[in-house]
Amino acid sequence: MDGEVTFWPAGKTVKVRRGTTLLDAARRANVPIRTRCGGKAACFMCKVSVRPGSELAPIADNESRKLSGLDGDNYRLSCQARVAGKVEVDVPLDPLRAAVARQLARQAEESDDLW
Ligand code: FES
Repeated sequence: MDGEVTFWPAGKTVKVRRGTTLLDAARRANVPIRTRCGGKAACFMCKVSVRPGSELAPIADNESRKLSGLDGDNYRLSCQARVAGKVEVDVPLDPLRAAVARQLARQAEESDDLW
C-alpha cells in the first residue's frame, strides 16, 4: 500500500494501492459517494473536492472534459481520479441530507427568535 486517502467531513482514512480510484477508496473506507453510471464518467454524481497538495495521477482527457467549467475548484470525478500518494478529499453532503440540515438550522433560528 503506497497511497493514503482521508475523506472529510467523516475524517476516515484508508490505505490503498497507487492507481486505486477515489471511489473505490471511499467504498473501502465505508464513505458513501453517490453514483448512477457505475463509474463510467457519465453521471457526474461522484464529484468531490480534492484538497491542495493531494497526490493524484494526472487528470485524463475524458474527466477533464466532464469537469470543464469547474476548473480551479479542485473538483474531480471520484470514479476517474486515481491515487498517487497522500490525498485528502471533501465529500459533498447528500442533497437530501443537506436540505434536512438547512431546514433544521432554520427551525432552530426561528425558535431562538421566540425567546
Ligand atoms: S460514477 Fe458516474 S461520473 Fe463517476
